[in-house]
Amino acid sequence: MSDKIRIGLAGLGTVGATVASRLLQGAVPRAKLVAVSARDAKKDRGVDLSAIDFVADPLALVSHPDVDVIIELIGGESGTALDLVEAALKAGKPVVTANKAMLAAHAAALSDLSVGGNVPLAFEAAVAGGIPVIKTVREGLAGNDITRLCGILNGTCNYILSRMEAAGLSFADALKEAQELGFAEADPTLDVSGADAGQKLAILSALAYGVAPDMDNISVTGIEAVTAADIAFAEEFDSVIRLVGTAARVGAGSNGGVYHSVEPVLVKKSQALAQVLNELNALSITAEPLGAVMLQGPGAGGGATASAVLADIADIAAGFGRPLFDVAVSEMTESASQNAPASEYYIRLALADRPGSMAKATQILAENGVSIEEVVQRSSESDDSYLPVVFITHQTENASLNAALAALEKQSEICNAVLALPVFAD
Ligand code: NDP
Ligand code: HSE
Repeated sequence: MSDKIRIGLAGLGTVGATVASRLLQGAVPRAKLVAVSARDAKKDRGVDLSAIDFVADPLALVSHPDVDVIIELIGGESGTALDLVEAALKAGKPVVTANKAMLAAHAAALSDLSVGGNVPLAFEAAVAGGIPVIKTVREGLAGNDITRLCGILNGTCNYILSRMEAAGLSFADALKEAQELGFAEADPTLDVSGADAGQKLAILSALAYGVAPDMDNISVTGIEAVTAADIAFAEEFDSVIRLVGTAARVGAGSNGGVYHSVEPVLVKKSQALAQVLNELNALSITAEPLGAVMLQGPGAGGGATASAVLADIADIAAGFGRPLFDVAVSEMTESASQNAPASEYYIRLALADRPGSMAKATQILAENGVSIEEVVQRSSESDDSYLPVVFITHQTENASLNAALAALEKQSEICNAVLALPVFAD
């Protein structure tokens, strides 16, 4: 290697173009951009790349004689991104990536190559954008026992919910803004379905608890069913709605495990997560014996993500690069399936506007052991035959909630469109 590490960068989109620009400005003094790849060689990236070698095939970066380190910013769970990263690791070339979809889906194969070959695979940018959560969980809190990770891990969803509540935007308009600002994935379904936040949670859980990434063991609910009416109801309870990911140790001994969920929750405005606005992300880490640590900052966008990519490049340039995980995924604990813990719930349904509907709904809740703390009913602007009603419940076991929801949904003549959100507990 020369005195500077020589960078081959694949992907010149929202993140890649910002990384290229910052490298050319000398943001990492011990790194030099020597080659780039993207689909379109002619596209204006807002950065002068005329002195940098352009290669049409990203895999050619691996065999490029002047490239020491590969930066993968193409994206996608498989395909070119995965081929590139695997080829680089096989060739012993360190990799930096922001690709959480690929890491979560191919953790075992990638960790075999990275841990087995002791080749750094750095991924700070894959979780929470510019917030150094990977370094914090892996290095900063190394002497602790982490018991709970909880936070906002998707900037697009947080942007949509914040803009709906602050500016009265429709879901579709808020998503369009998030896409224009470069926060959303190429396929934004990954954002709004909660899958992207789930992938990030799986990666964090592997680091914090040594639990092998397993998307099937994460209960994931997106924000697609959250309406403007829910945001208005939340306001009546002095609350907002946020998409929150949680990975928490629950139970003990053979009943113990890590419970993983990503879901929209009702958050009181007095709670810290309610102040996390727009594309910001936040992660609260509860650790023994340290206590609770909260990190917050820009979680999506070119600048935020490039910041994390550059930090990884600087680490590799300084010789600090680490393998993907500290152990192979095959040596990690399997995630034990866990039921959702008991919670208070926000239940919104539409009740038929006729005598006895409310009584029937409350009867079903009572029969299933769901106790009501508050109820709000409003007249409907769109459909006069059904009126929106919201119940806030007392603490309820998950099994009781599910039984009540199933029974309510069967009563199509008295109610439809049932949505249940946990009420967030710090
Ligand atoms: P973009 O869609 O903006 O950019 C993707 C880039 O990859 C484009 O330059 C595209 O080329 C290039 N590309 C796509 N397919 C190929 C291919 N087959 N061969 C060569 N180049 C290809 O994505 P982002 O920059 O937003 O995201 C990149 C990665 O970073 C993803 O993994 C994403 O999940 C992750 N990430 C993104 C964040 C964000 O806020 N945007 C935040 C955190 C992580 P061309 O431009 O010519 O079409
Ligand atoms: N689409 C992702 C988000 C990018 O909105 O959070 C950052 O990972």
